[in-house]
Amino acid sequence: MSAEAEAYLRIAGHRRLTGEIRVNGAKNAALPCLAAALLSDEPSRITRVPDIEDVHRLIEILKTLGVEAEFHGNEVVVRPSGVCGGSPPDDLAASLRASFLVMGPLLARTGEASCGAPGGDVIGARPLDVHLAGFRAFGAQVDSVGGRTIAHAPRGLRGATIVLDYPSVLGTENLLLAAVLANGRTRIVNAAMEPEIGCLADMLNAMGARISGAGHHTITVDGVERLSGVVHELIPDRIETGTLLIAAAATRGDVCLTGVSPRHLEALLSKLAEIGIDVQRGDGELWLSVDSEAELTATNVQALPYPGFATDLQAPITALLTGASGISMVHERVFENRMQHLNELRKLGANIVAGGSVSAINGPAALSGAVVRGTDIRATAALIVAAVAAEEGESRVYGMRHLARGYADLPAQLAALGADIERV
Ligand code: UD1
Repeated sequence: MSAEAEAYLRIAGHRRLTGEIRVNGAKNAALPCLAAALLSDEPSRITRVPDIEDVHRLIEILKTLGVEAEFHGNEVVVRPSGVCGGSPPDDLAASLRASFLVMGPLLARTGEASCGAPGGDVIGARPLDVHLAGFRAFGAQVDSVGGRTIAHAPRGLRGATIVLDYPSVLGTENLLLAAVLANGRTRIVNAAMEPEIGCLADMLNAMGARISGAGHHTITVDGVERLSGVVHELIPDRIETGTLLIAAAATRGDVCLTGVSPRHLEALLSKLAEIGIDVQRGDGELWLSVDSEAELTATNVQALPYPGFATDLQAPITALLTGASGISMVHERVFENRMQHLNELRKLGANIVAGGSVSAINGPAALSGAVVRGTDIRATAALIVAAVAAEEGESRVYGMRHLARGYADLPAQLAALGADIERV
C-alpha cells in the first residue's frame, strides 16, 4: 500500500479536552471470555464487547472451529454446539496473540488442540513456554513443530499444581480455561493478577466452574464435568480509561470518565498525583480538572505486571511526561522491545535519551506537529496523545491498522472532548 493511500489521523494540537465520556468494555477481557464460550455446548451472550479488530478476528477464528457467533450492538452471542476440534487458520492465528487462547478450551473439551504461531504487537520475543509447561503438567503431550503447537490428551486432563515461571496474562488464562474441565484440583501458583483474569473467572464460575483466588497470586480450580451457557458483562477497559485520563492531563483538561473501575487504575492514579494531577473518584467515575496554566512535575515509572504500572500505559504516560518539568525515568520491565514510540515522540519535539528498556525524558518540551507512525496499538495511542497536546502545528499520525485492533473509537472520543482530530 502506498503511503498516500494509507489512512491517517490529522490532528491539530493545543485544544483543552473537556466533557464526559463513557468508556468501552475491556479488550483484554473480551478475548478470553470469547474463548471461554467454547467450553460449553450451550449458547453464551457476552455484553459490553468493544467493537475492535481483535474481537472480530477471534470471532472469525471461533467460526472456523464450528461455532456460530454474531456481533450486534456490543453484544456477542456464541453458539458453540458444533465444536469438535480443529485448528485456527494460520493467517488468522498469526493476526493476534489471543488466538492461542483456543488451545486451553479445545484441549479440555475435545482432548486435542493445535494452533499456528500467534501474532500480536511486535514488542518482544513473547514465548509460549508458560502455556506449554502448564498443558504438559495437566498430562497433555505437547509438540512444537515449525512454530505450530500440537497438544493431545486422549485420556483427558488431570488437575495439577503448576508454578508459572512468569505471571503471564494469557498463560494464566489459557491454563484456567483448561483447568475448569480437568479431572480434580488445579493450583496455579504465581498467576497473573490482572483484573481481566477476575472477569474471566467470574464468567467461568457463572457457567458452573469452581474457581477461587482469581486476582491473587494463587488460583485454585476444582474441575467439573460440564459447563452451561451464560450471560456475562465485561469489565470496563482500564487501558482505554488510562489513555483518556492521560490525554486529558496532557491538555490540562476538564474531563469526566464514566462506567469505569477506579480500583483497577491505582498505579496510574498514584503516578498522576506525583505529576501534579489530582483525579477525583466517584462510583464508577473518574474526573480531573487541571488548570490550563498548571505546571506538571517529572516522575519515574516502572512498567510491571498488575498491580504495578501497566505496560500498556507506558507509551501513553511517556507522551504526558514530555510536558512535565524535570527529568522523568521510564523503565519498561514487561516487554523487552516496547520503546518504539520514542523516535516518533522526538519528531514531535520531545527531548528523550534512551538505552535498552529505559528512557530519560527531559521536560517540559514544547511539542509541535509532525508526521509520525505508530508501530503497535499503544505506541499509536501515545502519538495521538502527544499530537493532541502539541502546542502548535498539525500532525499526521499513521498506524490506524494497529489502533483499530485495540481501541473501539479513540479518535471519536477525543473529538467529542473537543480535540481537532479527523481520520483522512
Ligand atoms: C497481555 C495483554 C497485553 C499486555 C500484557 C502484559 C491480552 C490479549 N494482552 O498480553 O495487552 O501488554 O498482557 O500486561 O490480554 N512470557 C514468557 N513466557 C510465556 C508468556 C509470556 O516469558 O509463555 C513473557 C513475555 O515475553 C513478556 C511477559 O511474559 O515479557 C508478559 O507477557 P504476557 O503477560 O504473557 O502478555 P500477554 O498475555 O501476551
